[in-house]
Amino acid sequence: MFTVLTSGKAAPGVTTSTWALALAWTRPLLVADCDPAGGDMAPGLLAGRVTVDRGLLSWSTAARRDLSVDAASTLLSDHAVRVPEQADLSLIPGFANGVQGASFATEAWERLARSLAATAATTERDVLVDTGRLGSDRGGWPVLRAADRVLLVVRPSVRSVHATQDAAQRLRQQLGDLSTVSALVVGRGPYSASEVAGALQLPLVGVLPDDPTTASFLSDGGSVSARTLRRSSLLRATASLAAQLAVTAGSAGERAAVAG
Ligand SMILES: Nc1ncnc2c1ncn2[C@@H]1O[C@H](COP(=O)(O)OP(=O)(O)OP(=O)(O)O)[C@@H](O)[C@H]1O
Ligand SMILES: [Mg+2]
Repeated sequence: MFTVLTSGKAAPGVTTSTWALALAWTRPLLVADCDPAGGDMAPGLLAGRVTVDRGLLSWSTAARRDLSVDAASTLLSDHAVRVPEQADLSLIPGFANGVQGASFATEAWERLARSLAATAATTERDVLVDTGRLGSDRGGWPVLRAADRVLLVVRPSVRSVHATQDAAQRLRQQLGDLSTVSALVVGRGPYSASEVAGALQLPLVGVLPDDPTTASFLSDGGSVSARTLRRSSLLRATASLAAQLAVTAGSAGERAAVAG
């Protein structure tokens, strides 16, 4: 299963929710930090704990143009770091900054998208990606197009819904339709999650609670015991979201098999 989290502007919690989902995932998982504005995943939760010489850029240098998709996909593991919090979880760190992100050519994004899709399709590992906010027409669109599902992260506020409507419109333009896209509502606000999904005309995939302590650990690092983390409201909510995503991925696969 190849899942992407993204958003409009207003930093609704894409990176934090990606980490929370990753730590609650029950199958082997490869997470890729594909935010063209600069990766926050390694400098956040993993601050000072991982080497900075691996990531999207080192993979892209190694995955030469003449390499097959399968070979480029296999190489992803060599450029990922293991996440100590969880067995069978690794992360491909993102760009050091926005300049590096902007230097990634469309061809490199396309190769990355094909390699991530091949990993999700041919190995026992799922793939989870943080593409950051949907800004310019450049950047990670090939990754969004290749995903089985796109979770558009939004806060239940006027400001965030407004930014997300714009993001949904860009997604429709770039993807052709919104059939893979659903809304993931984070936190509390003046509107209910179903009102937010209704305003966006998207199905609601889940709701994550406001949990500042756990969120701050995931977005900025620090120390929280594994037990406290597992029992937190954010991790419990992402555990049920991860289970639900696995079930719907299964039924989508069965439908495809029946149709085929
Ligand atoms: N469920 C949550 N409960 C409380 N605070 C949260 C939650 N999710 C995220 N936050 C906080 O919101 C802030 C922004 O989160 P995060 O960096 O994940 O957003 P983002 O959407 O990835 O932003 P950007 O677009 O800048 O990459 C952080 O301080 C984070 O701790
Ligand atoms: Mg982010």
